[in-house]
Amino acid sequence: MNPLKIGNVVHVESGYVDVLVTTGDLNLVHEDKTYRVGQLGSYMTVPMDDRTLVGFVISLGRQDVTSIDVEPQLILRMQLLGEIKAGRFVRGVNEYPIVGDDVWVAAAGDFESIFGSFDQLLSGSKHPQSFTLGRFALNQDFEVKVLGTELFSKHVAVVGNSGSGKSVTTAKILQEVLEFDQAQVVLFDMHGEYRQAFSDEDGQINANVTYLDSDHLVLPYWLLKYEELESIFVDRSNPADLATQISFLRSALLEYKQDAARELGLTDALTLDTPIYFSLEQIKTYAENLNDARYVLNDDHLAFSQLALRSLDPAEQQLLMRTQRCQFNRGNPEGETPHPLYFGKLLGLIDRVDTLFSDRRYEFMLRPLDHGLKSPFFKDYLSEQDSAGQSSSVMNHLIKLLTGRVEPRSNLTIIDMSGLPFEIVDITVAVLTRLLFDLNFWTCSKDRHPMLLVFEEAHNYVPRVPLKTSFAKVAVERVAKEGRKYGVSAMIVSQRPSELSETVLAQCNSFIAMRLSNPEDQDYIARVISDHFKGLIDMLPVLRPGEAFVIGDAVIMPMRTIVNMADPLPNSGNMDFFKVWSEDSPHYDIDSIIDNWRKQTRFLGADAEESKSVAPTFEADVPEPAATSPYPKKDAPPPPTPLERLIGKRPSAGAGDEGKKRAAAAKWRGQ
Ligand SMILES: Nc1ncnc2c1ncn2[C@@H]1O[C@H](COP(=O)(O)OP(=O)(O)OP(=O)(O)O)[C@@H](O)[C@H]1O
Ligand SMILES: [Mg+2]
Repeated sequence: MNPLKIGNVVHVESGYVDVLVTTGDLNLVHEDKTYRVGQLGSYMTVPMDDRTLVGFVISLGRQDVTSIDVEPQLILRMQLLGEIKAGRFVRGVNEYPIVGDDVWVAAAGDFESIFGSFDQLLSGSKHPQSFTLGRFALNQDFEVKVLGTELFSKHVAVVGNSGSGKSVTTAKILQEVLEFDQAQVVLFDMHGEYRQAFSDEDGQINANVTYLDSDHLVLPYWLLKYEELESIFVDRSNPADLATQISFLRSALLEYKQDAARELGLTDALTLDTPIYFSLEQIKTYAENLNDARYVLNDDHLAFSQLALRSLDPAEQQLLMRTQRCQFNRGNPEGETPHPLYFGKLLGLIDRVDTLFSDRRYEFMLRPLDHGLKSPFFKDYLSEQDSAGQSSSVMNHLIKLLTGRVEPRSNLTIIDMSGLPFEIVDITVAVLTRLLFDLNFWTCSKDRHPMLLVFEEAHNYVPRVPLKTSFAKVAVERVAKEGRKYGVSAMIVSQRPSELSETVLAQCNSFIAMRLSNPEDQDYIARVISDHFKGLIDMLPVLRPGEAFVIGDAVIMPMRTIVNMADPLPNSGNMDFFKVWSEDSPHYDIDSIIDNWRKQTRFLGADAEESKSVAPTFEADVPEPAATSPYPKKDAPPPPTPLERLIGKRPSAGAGDEGKKRAAAAKWRGQ
């Protein structure tokens, strides 16, 4: 009898085989190696005439017996994975075993065939096709290699409990990917842990990595879609005012985008969602005016408090309302009527804009000029003097940064979202994901460059059950559903897969499943991957940190893998409680911590020098606005406003440079 034989097939079902274990000793020794028969996850073979079937053990137990005279028998259930034919392993089985066939323990020779087949598959290609993720857990002599295109092109999910090793695995994969000169990855880093994995020993970020935290990122509000703007600015506390705020915002947006649209030749194509500059402050001013506006009784003249303005032509009055703050007569000398639509109804919207404008955490979005002038990545590409069309070109710079089209070429852009308020994370992920997707969508197919988007802690913003706002969910689901066609791939990292969008998870073709002990998560993953792998999912709770089942087209068969450590490691925040508790901590200073907390500045340790880092230069300069632009050149004074014409002077006239600067800044803020 072959020394590796452990029993015989007694039951065959699609994909599963039950084996009666006949070997007396479950510790089988062969060629100096000990095989523990029936160990969950271990591999078995069924030798047949011209092929050998390969499967792995998913359960082992004694069969129930009804008679006390009969010895209970040991039954092992294995799941079939593939077959070795002519020395080559292929997934899936063409022929099933029959009752009575011998079953053997898979030994080193079988693994050589399996892993050798993979190497054969790779040979003959001009460019690298795979990278080494780790070692085969059941026989660490073998490396687990993963096919890059198969892993990324159809999306990959990395799931596991907190502390199971997801971030280390993600960092390891990205470190491998970054070996390629033209790799293009954007990573949404929720806790600021990845910088360390892409820095040298002095904490200096690698030359091919762009690191944008909330201090350095600029995401102008005008890149948001209408719905996103509505969710931020429309106040829902008073339902009676809701429709008025919405109708105001829609019409104001279309109106205030006209300047940039004309300059960029987009008037006919303009929609609420066209990503071009408009002035939020100017919209706020207009809202304040409408909110207070009164008309002269039975007249279409606005009842401004200044008599001279009161008699202006109504069309000019309307223009005034749109450009500067106006005062209205509070009294009622001639009988005045409040604005029939807006009077008092826009207060909620005005308050929200005001509140968010003054919240420092929103500066990167709502005050892009002020914020960008402080960022080494943006300061050279922004100016207070920019026209509406020129201001719109920040989008070009942002996309170049995100895609690494900078000098030197950057392969990874890390968006550190740890400093952002939670409510804005959703919109930030949504806008950036959409920008990147749309970039590839609008690129002609021969020029398209594949990109990988890594969504860390994705359950927070790609939830299964939609939250009030789920813009990121929509954007990431679009990548999951359509990204493959446009070369945009998603890597979804989550500790709570059962809280993740089913659409996104179901589109993932590869899974790196790490220790997962929550039954809800296990069931969900089993359902999404395929019930076929239920046995394997049942083993997830016993995995060690850094150990994973790699499942999908990227590997030759589901591989229990000990993932190689990333080097350097991400800053996973593992604290050695006992070490810290047993040492003095002389630098612990609550006063300065609270000071930082109030100022909303986080101490980044080695990263403190970061703001001094040199901003990259962009590959191509942003085109100047069209020469035929009807708008004044940078240094030309803006045309007089109706008020200026009326009172015959400019507010900043004669104030020298300071006045010019103020006027220009006011333009940016829309005053
Ligand atoms: N491949 C590995 N080999 C050995 N140990 C590992 C490996 N990967 C992770 N670990 C250990 O597990 C710890 C936690 O890893 P990691 O931060 O990647 O977990 P995580 O799943 O991302 O957790 P969280 O969900 O809380 O972010 C690491 O600090 C390390 O000690
Ligand atoms: Mg993590």
